[in-house]
Amino acid sequence: MQGFNHRYRVPQRLVKWGKVYQDDPMRSIAFINEKGGTCKTTLSVNVAAWFATQKKARVLLVDMDPQGQAGKSLGFYVRDMSPTVYDVLTDADLPATAAIHESKVPGLDVLISNKSLGDFPLDVASHRDRERKLADKLADVSGYDFIVFDSPPSMGLPTINIMLAATEIVVPVNLTYFALDGCAEIVESVDRVRREFGKTDLKISLVVPTLYRPTRLANEIHAKLKTHFPGRLARTVIGYNVKIDEAQSHGKTIWDYASWSRGAHMLESLAKEIWRAK
Ligand SMILES: Nc1ncnc2c1ncn2[C@@H]1O[C@H](COP(=O)(O)OP(=O)(O)OP(=O)(O)O)[C@@H](O)[C@H]1O
Ligand SMILES: [Mg+2]
Repeated sequence: MQGFNHRYRVPQRLVKWGKVYQDDPMRSIAFINEKGGTCKTTLSVNVAAWFATQKKARVLLVDMDPQGQAGKSLGFYVRDMSPTVYDVLTDADLPATAAIHESKVPGLDVLISNKSLGDFPLDVASHRDRERKLADKLADVSGYDFIVFDSPPSMGLPTINIMLAATEIVVPVNLTYFALDGCAEIVESVDRVRREFGKTDLKISLVVPTLYRPTRLANEIHAKLKTHFPGRLARTVIGYNVKIDEAQSHGKTIWDYASWSRGAHMLESLAKEIWRAK
């Protein structure tokens, strides 16, 4: 929020408990972990949908994974869709705004990805601005309160592009033995991007335990994460709930598929934390 003066304006959208005012700066939040299957897509799609529907925010979801699962989770048949985020990144004349698709979730738009994105690193290998393609294209996008990024399970060029376009990183972490390795890699990558590209506003804002099962090992790893990320470990722990998986198989958000489920409650609790974690 930018100060007291807002009280004297008529806000376009005003929602209790964390308001979206017309003049609020846009937040850009990336869900990143180079390990596969840590719930990046699940969290990015559902958190984006919650912001849009519950907070009446305008949200752009950017899928930077050639698997295209963010779009699939919203019911898009991404294989045959065009233009996609790949076209935006590789066609200098195509603005991002021309590739934005409206989703069936009110307020939530999407930059779709599909396997064509797999060619992106090679196609732009000789371009000097290859790491900044996404940031440059998104610089022309306006009218959104949030840009939310889903990332692939690797620290390659697409993820570096995300880091240069986002300011907040949320790291979903499976509470397994190698979880801490993954976190160390991300911390290192963020430090490198901050150093090499002068992206000093980039930070890891939240680390989210996912796919939790109550075992001694999981609890030990959770305790270690608390020590490594003081103040940044999410209070919400995402446990298993089959409704979350089922919702994706139906191309629906958890709110559209089973809003009463435990999965929906966990995801809502996380969305609230991210909403407040400015
Ligand atoms: N809380 C949950 N309970 C049960 N299943 C879940 C839960 N969260 C996610 N899943 C399922 O786990 C699988 C992996 O989740 P998801 O695709 O979000 O991970 P990811 O990090 O995006 O994977 P990738 O690295 O391949 O992109 C999916 O099939 C998803 O439906
Ligand atoms: Mg994914």
